[in-house]
Amino acid sequence: MAELRDESIRLGETELVLRRPVSPEALIDEDAFAHDEFLPYWAELWPAATALATALPDVAGLRVVELGCGLGVPSLVAAARGAEVTATDWSADAIELLRANAERNGLQLVAEVRDWRRPWPGRFDLALAADVLYEQRNVAPVLARLRELAPRALVGLAGRPYEDAFLEAAGNVEQVAERVVLLTRAN
Ligand SMILES: C[S@@+](CC[C@H](N)C(=O)[O-])C[C@H]1O[C@@H](n2cnc3c(N)ncnc32)[C@H](O)[C@@H]1O
Repeated sequence: MAELRDESIRLGETELVLRRPVSPEALIDEDAFAHDEFLPYWAELWPAATALATALPDVAGLRVVELGCGLGVPSLVAAARGAEVTATDWSADAIELLRANAERNGLQLVAEVRDWRRPWPGRFDLALAADVLYEQRNVAPVLARLRELAPRALVGLAGRPYEDAFLEAAGNVEQVAERVVLLTRAN
């Protein structure tokens, strides 16, 4: 992996040391892009993730899943606050770094390579996703996975063009903080 650096970040009461790539652009791989339009977006800490982590409710004792976790800051904060966390991303590098960051901060979580285009048989109390609606192809599968995996989902928004279509399709949506919405499943 490219050069890494450690950074201290504070989200509410929770302080984390996050190791991450100094230059995400250095991770761009033309073969991976040609194969599945893969770009190393996981290596940035996006404002939507910070907003989502800051807006987390009391998650102690809840089973929490994060989709497209990237550096996994909401997952790390949820784990620090007593949730049983499964963090997922299609990037194996992201998952490897998140496992190391959890250990670095003395936190327990499960981190798994998962592609949100394919269902998997997990069941959780709360789903999380931050800045995952930056391409039209993400909208339907992200909504489908969030609905299948948990009765409630907190989604961190980034002002991307496809977020409106997502929110319209999601239906039952409540704004709970700046950049953060709560989706509630109908049944
Ligand atoms: C803009 S980044 C956001 C990362 C992180 N949630 C944040 O806000 O800092 C989008 C994330 O979605 C992941 N991703 C993209 N397509 C995916 C897919 N099909 N399945 C799972 N993760 C995917 C990327 O690897 C990346 O980590």
